[in-house]
Amino acid sequence: MRDVRHNRTGPHARCTDTCCPSRLTRRALPGRDRALGADAAPPRSVLDVGCGTGVAGAAWALAAGGTPHVTGVDRHPWAVEEARWTYRQLRVEGRARAGDVIRLPPIAPGTAVVAAYVLNELPVVTREGLEARLIDAAGRGTTILIIEPIARAVAPWWDALASRLVATGGRADEWRFPVELPAPLRVLDKAAGLDHHEITARSLYCPARPDSSGPSRVE
Ligand SMILES: C[S@@+](CC[C@H](N)C(=O)[O-])C[C@H]1O[C@@H](n2cnc3c(N)ncnc32)[C@H](O)[C@@H]1O
Repeated sequence: MRDVRHNRTGPHARCTDTCCPSRLTRRALPGRDRALGADAAPPRSVLDVGCGTGVAGAAWALAAGGTPHVTGVDRHPWAVEEARWTYRQLRVEGRARAGDVIRLPPIAPGTAVVAAYVLNELPVVTREGLEARLIDAAGRGTTILIIEPIARAVAPWWDALASRLVATGGRADEWRFPVELPAPLRVLDKAAGLDHHEITARSLYCPARPDSSGPSRVE
């Protein structure tokens, strides 16, 4: 399944690099796109796996009306501090803690999981373990959102994972939309020999099933 979308307006039209996962998450979520299930009830909480600066989970919470509580997990203390800062700045109710994706807690009913730009960073065994846990959680009715760069080279495993998640009731999309970077970032972009006039990404989205009950164990 391939779906390339374009959007030239909106509050994030001048987003920064830090904000880009936020834009993508907001676009790949039900509150932003009827095609992805706008009628779905917002999750009670969001678990942001490999949260980095926390933007993906925060974006989901904001896209869902600000009600979900966000838990960010990252192995780097610096990232954890940044995520806490992000939650405070965006007034998202959330907490971030240090942890490894191979030791995720059980997922409570009503929790959604986002893994943005993290799978491609993991060693094969760790990635495959996390994939299996996310697929298992999706099969038990947990909402799952995975976002990765569109470049095939960084995620040669994408199609196989997409097939498995689509078989579980999910969907796979590709995204492409223009971006106007703030001046300082434009300078850095140019100095690095880059030209970020548009943002691209791929997503896998598995909506919650209404019949889901009980926690989905991911360990
Ligand atoms: C490219 S960043 C993406 C961050 C964030 N999800 C986003 O969309 O901006 C990948 C993050 O995954 C974290 N990470 C990598 N391996 C991890 C692991 N085994 N357990 C937890 N976090 C991990 C890194 O510390 C980093 O913050």
